[in-house]
Amino acid sequence: SQLETLVRALPKAELHLHIEGSLEPDMMFELAKRNGVSLTYASVDEIRAAYDFSNLQDFLDLYYQGMAVLQTEQDFYDLTAAYLARAAEDNVRHVEIFFDPQAHMERGVDFETVLDGVERALKEGEASRGISYRLIMCILRHLPEDDAFALMDVADPHLHRLDGIGLDSSELGHPPSKFERVFARARSKGLKLVAHAGEEGPPSYVWEALDLLQIDRIDHGNAAAKDAALLAEIKARGLTLTMCPLSNQRLCVTPDLNDNPLAGLLRAGVSVTVNSDDPSYFGGYINDNYLAIAEALDMSADEMIGLARNSFLGAFLSDAEKKKYL
Ligand code: ADE
Ligand code: ZN
Repeated sequence: SQLETLVRALPKAELHLHIEGSLEPDMMFELAKRNGVSLTYASVDEIRAAYDFSNLQDFLDLYYQGMAVLQTEQDFYDLTAAYLARAAEDNVRHVEIFFDPQAHMERGVDFETVLDGVERALKEGEASRGISYRLIMCILRHLPEDDAFALMDVADPHLHRLDGIGLDSSELGHPPSKFERVFARARSKGLKLVAHAGEEGPPSYVWEALDLLQIDRIDHGNAAAKDAALLAEIKARGLTLTMCPLSNQRLCVTPDLNDNPLAGLLRAGVSVTVNSDDPSYFGGYINDNYLAIAEALDMSADEMIGLARNSFLGAFLSDAEKKKYL
C-alpha cells in the first residue's frame, strides 16, 4: 500500500529499544554454541513457540534467561551490530539504546565488557551507516536500591560514555519512589533521566516518575490515557512518550491493538513516538510497529509523518543535530 511505502521511506529515530531484547533466536543458538552454554530449547522454532506471554513478568523471565548466552565483548558487539543492520533496513537514522548491566554482572560478566562491545558497534554503525546514537543505562527496579547505587559506582568512571539513566524490569510493586535517591544522584551527574512508567502500572507511577524522579521522557506511559490531569501535565511539560504497540499486545497490556491508546494520545496533542522495545521477543521491528497501528487505529499518512517527526523532536539530540533530521 501507499502508507506502507511511506512508512518504510520515512527517516525515523528509535528511542525505546532494549539491546538484549533484539537477540534473535538464531544468534541465541550461535552464541550458546560459541560459549558452551546449554539452552533449554532444542530449536529456533521451540524458542519462538515459548514466546507466548500473559504479562510483563512472563516475558522478563525468558528475557533474562535468553541473554545468558551473552558473555564476551564480541557477543555484545555482534548483538548490537545485528540490531543496527536491521534498523538500517527500516530507515532508522538515530537510536537511543537501553542496556541492562545488572543482568549481566550477576552472571559474572564485567560492566566494561558489556559497555565496550555495545559501544564499539554503535561507533562503527555511526561511521559506516551514519546512524547516530545515545546510550541509556537501565536500573533493574526489581532489585534493591542498594544494588542500583552499586551500579552507579561501577559506572562512575564511564559516565562520559553514557547519556542517560533508565528504569526497567518488573513494574508492579516497584514504584519509581523506590529509586528517588538514585535518580537524584544521576541528575547531579548531568545524565538524562527516563523511566518505564504506566506500562502495567497505574497513573500514580507515572506521576511519581514525573514528580519524584523528574524524568525527561516517559517510556510507555500508557496509563496516562486513564488520567486527564496527568495527560495535561505531560503536555504542559512537553514530555515525549516512547510507546511500543506490539510489545503492549504481546504482553497483554492492550491485547487488542485496536484498544492501544497511542492514536488517542497523539490526537490529544501528546508527543507520542513508536518503538519496538524488544523486537525479537515481540515479533516486529520499528516499521512493523508503525504499520500495525496505522491499520488497527486507522491512522493517516500525516499521522505517520508526525510520529516520525516526534521521534527526532523527542530524542536527546542538540537542536543543531535535530535540524539535520527535521
Ligand atoms: N525490559 C525489557 N523490556 C522491558 C519492558 N517492556 N518493560 C520493562 N522492562 C523491560
Ligand atoms: Zn522497554
